[in-house]
Order: sequence, then C-alpha cells, then structure tokens
Amino acid sequence: MNAARSSADPLRVLTLCGSLRQASLTKALLLLAEREAPQGLAFANEPLHDIPPFDADIQAMGFPPPVARIRDAIRSADAVLIGTPEYNFSIPGVLKNALDWVSRGDRPPFVGKAVGILSCSTGPWGGARVQYDLRKVMLSMEAHVIGKPEVFVGSASGKFDSTGGCTDEPTRDAVIRYMAAFKRWVTATRHFNMENQEKK
Ligand SMILES: Cc1cc2nc3c(=O)[nH]c(=O)nc-3n(C[C@H](O)[C@H](O)[C@H](O)COP(=O)(O)O)c2cc1C
Repeated sequence: MNAARSSADPLRVLTLCGSLRQASLTKALLLLAEREAPQGLAFANEPLHDIPPFDADIQAMGFPPPVARIRDAIRSADAVLIGTPEYNFSIPGVLKNALDWVSRGDRPPFVGKAVGILSCSTGPWGGARVQYDLRKVMLSMEAHVIGKPEVFVGSASGKFDSTGGCTDEPTRDAVIRYMAAFKRWVTATRHFNMENQEKK
C-alpha cells in the first residue's frame, strides 16, 4: 500500500496515548509533538478507551471492532508515536492491553513499523523506566523503535498549563529535536521496508 504512494505524500503518523484522562499530561505531550513536528508528517490519533480486556476466547471469535480498527490504523500508518505515562515503574494496563490485542492474529501490524516513544510523569524521572519496558514489548512485535534521542518529561505537571499548552521551553526544544529525528527515522524505515519488499 505504501509503495503505491508518492514520496511527496506526507508520512502518516498514528498517535497512541497510554493515558485515558481528559486532562492527561501525556496527551498534552503528544499534541506538543504534533504541533512542533517538521512539515511532511500527517497525524491521526486512535483512542484506547473502547479496547476491551484481552481475552483469547473473544479473539477466537474475531477481533472486536475497536481492536480491528486500531490494527488497520497501525497497518496503514507509516509510523506510530506512542505517548505514555509510567505506572508503577512500567506500562499502563490500557496501553499494554491494546498492544497485546494488536500483537495477535495474522499480519501483526507493528512488524517493520517505525515507532517513537515519548513519556512523561509527575515524578522526576519522566517515565524513564516505562520507556525501557515498552521498548522490550515493541521488540517482541518486531517494531523499529528509534533509539535516540529520547524524551522523558519529568515533573510534567509544572510544564503544561491547564489547556495543555507547554510552558517549558527546554521541553519544547527537546520535542522539536525529537520530532526532526523521528521524521528521519520514519523516512529511513520506509525506504528499508520498500527495498526489502522489492527483494522478496
Ligand atoms: C496507577 C499509577 C501509578 C503511577 N506510577 C508512577 C510511577 O511508577 N512513576 C512515576 O513517575 N509516576 C507514576 N505515577 C504518576 C504519573 O506519572 C502521573 O499520574 C501522570 O500525570 C499520569 O499521566 P497522565 O497525566 O497522562 O494521565 C503513577 C500514577 C498512577 C495513576
């Protein structure tokens, strides 16, 4: 599907947010990334609110519509940008549950997919621990996760205002640098996948 597109077309980035909260700081971070992204990236979001708890018996009867929708959205995106808080040093259940669902069945959609990870927390470390758990999970799904730079937004409640706007310039600068590198990563991964496809 991607091979038929022109290289002038914007790269499609799907965002997934590991927090369901209306006033989520992670959501604000993802929106900052979208706003500060270089030209040539087009964003869409898939909310995780409707994803049911993973149950292999339900999967055996077919993917529930919200799961099927998110699998399709990941498959047709050039890249996925995951924003996540850290829960008890690890991945929030809603995010892990969604990842478990999409990892099952034919043609798991993360294989070869360019993935970026942003995290934030109200604590000082900005989700440093969750990022490495999430990297491990994405490795199992054969996603191509960007290595560096990394963005960990610590003490995040002091870095976004009540409307979700970023009030911290070092955070904004880090996100700008991250998104520039992410665009290069997505472009390189797309070329890699197209070349691999041609060799098959
Ligand atoms: C169940 C739970 C566990 C948490 N565990 C951690 C943690 O291990 N490390 C951390 O830095 N913050 C932790 N926090 C605080 C989150 O960083 C904070 O609630 C953050 O704002 C959540 O992201 P959100 O604003 O996008 O919802 C935890 C919060 C919850 C609700």
